[in-house]
Amino acid sequence: MELDRAACQASLEEAAHRVRACRRCAIGEQRRNAVFGEGDPSARVMLVGEGPGETEDALGRPFVGRAGALLDRMLGAIGLARDQVYICNTVKCRPTSPGPRGPRNRAPEPSEMENCRPFLDEQIATIRPAVIVALGAAAAKSFLGRDFLISKQRGRWYEGPAGAALIATFHPAYLLRQTGGELEAVKRLVWHDLLQVRARLDEVPVPHHAPPTQVGLFEEGS
Ligand code: URA
Repeated sequence: MELDRAACQASLEEAAHRVRACRRCAIGEQRRNAVFGEGDPSARVMLVGEGPGETEDALGRPFVGRAGALLDRMLGAIGLARDQVYICNTVKCRPTSPGPRGPRNRAPEPSEMENCRPFLDEQIATIRPAVIVALGAAAAKSFLGRDFLISKQRGRWYEGPAGAALIATFHPAYLLRQTGGELEAVKRLVWHDLLQVRARLDEVPVPHHAPPTQVGLFEEGS
């Protein structure tokens, strides 16, 4: 088991090295750091976001900005610590377009997602997670096709790659953009989706995980 973990870690590090050398897309030239992914190389849960933002680009780590802080709380609400899961993105370089005050985040182009796909596939094949959570429409579409509708088709199980069960939920950045009643409604949907993940993991129980806690629906301080 430990040997297996070490072998997975070594293989991920080797792939990360290739990602840092990759210049298949123009964003490979513009980035500060490639953001390969991080977490437990033997994780049962892999979270896949869209692409690195400014903070991630600066630090070379996925989900370390505001959306990342919310993601940590979402995971905590179902008894998962960040170091128990694996977190990555559909593209490993920050997609940007020029703005008046410097580069601005944008959604990845289909060609960028296609160029980066072999790296994501390799991560999935190495880690072999039981569950993949697609965060947001872009990640969900990359697995389930362009017609996937996050508002209608999230929160259900699909057959994912490499034998993983796949579920899609709203991106934490989308939650951060909501206010008032809309925010409460979206949080409830995300909570439903998170409980699906917890239940799926509990089908094969693992000792020492905290039970889910709905208190405050993963609000700050909860
Ligand atoms: N949003 C994403 O989709 N990925 C990150 O790593 C950070 C923000």
